[in-house]
Amino acid sequence: EASERESMLAVNDFAMRWFERNIQQTQEGRDIGLAYFRQRGIDERMIERFHLGYSLDRRDALRTEALRAGYTDEFLEKTGLIIRHEGGGISDRFRARVIYPIFTLSGKVVGFGGRTLRSDKTMAKYVNSPESVIYHKSTELYGLYQAKPSIVRKDKCILVEGYMDVISMHQAGIENVVASSGTSLTEGQIRLIHRFTENVTVIYDSDPAGIKASLRGIDLLLAEGLMVKVLLLPDGDDPDSFAQSHPSSEVERYIEENEGDFVKFKTDILMKDTDRDPIARSRAMTEIVRTIAVIPEMMLRTTYIAECSRRFGISEELLTLQVRREMAARA
Ligand code: CTP
Ligand code: MN
Ligand code: MN
Ligand code: MN
Ligand code: MN
Repeated sequence: EASERESMLAVNDFAMRWFERNIQQTQEGRDIGLAYFRQRGIDERMIERFHLGYSLDRRDALRTEALRAGYTDEFLEKTGLIIRHEGGGISDRFRARVIYPIFTLSGKVVGFGGRTLRSDKTMAKYVNSPESVIYHKSTELYGLYQAKPSIVRKDKCILVEGYMDVISMHQAGIENVVASSGTSLTEGQIRLIHRFTENVTVIYDSDPAGIKASLRGIDLLLAEGLMVKVLLLPDGDDPDSFAQSHPSSEVERYIEENEGDFVKFKTDILMKDTDRDPIARSRAMTEIVRTIAVIPEMMLRTTYIAECSRRFGISEELLTLQVRREMAARA
């Protein structure tokens, strides 16, 4: 129902403005939320641009405000802003967290991410809005609303994992950045990117989970007909920590100089610490052939076969044969 969607968007907008007011105008919000972003190197411009906020450390402060404004509990629950507990108690979903609103392409707030400020591991690091009538995780990309003009201008999209990665890169002057937000990349998210560009550079966290997610992401992006580059950051870095520890001018240069095609990425990953190991070598080649086989466009497959042939010193004919076999096995 159209009017229900409208009201859900309205209450999210109401909540966003409340979270923003907290971080700017309350003592708790300034001392805790704003101080947190400062300490992470995020400046005032980014707080405004991404409408970052803070949820007070109370049981149901937002709920109370929203009820006063005429919204009902049923409705707040539908949007995921409050949680009804087993025993019947009701509380705000987001408490004592910094808040990242999630915008659609047209700038409507459909959900929120909330990060705990504590470092103890007993708390979930992030709490996110649940799926709802207006929020479908698998077809949203964090940061796309702010990144769109830059993606179009540069004809290129940088894909990262998280909220802070988008914001810190943006602050460093690299604005064509969107995040899959931890959920593994979906076809819907890729189609969304494809509406604006065919060129994607994947820069995931340089940890085992990030590398695994990159490998999977590459195949999905290629299968959708996109041109994919990948950048492996120094060990342990994510785009946020990298951007915060280097001068802005260096970040852009580092990306340009170090992004490479997936053949390079896969060889780097799979051949790491296997100096001239023939088994690792053939395993790497098999993996690369599998990936080339997902590419729909023949000319592009041929280009990568040539690259692979150069890199491994194996004839293009043999590689072509292997790719065909792999494609036949899938069909
Ligand atoms: N994420 C999530 N829920 C979690 C962990 C992660 O939704 N429990 C999502 C968030 O969107 C997060 C992204 O996955 O931004 C990447 O996760 P991670 O690398 O763990 O967090 P960072 O973004 O690096 O956050 P920070 O730097 O603040 O620790
Ligand atoms: Mn296309
Ligand atoms: Mn991570
Ligand atoms: Mn990270
Ligand atoms: Mn991080």
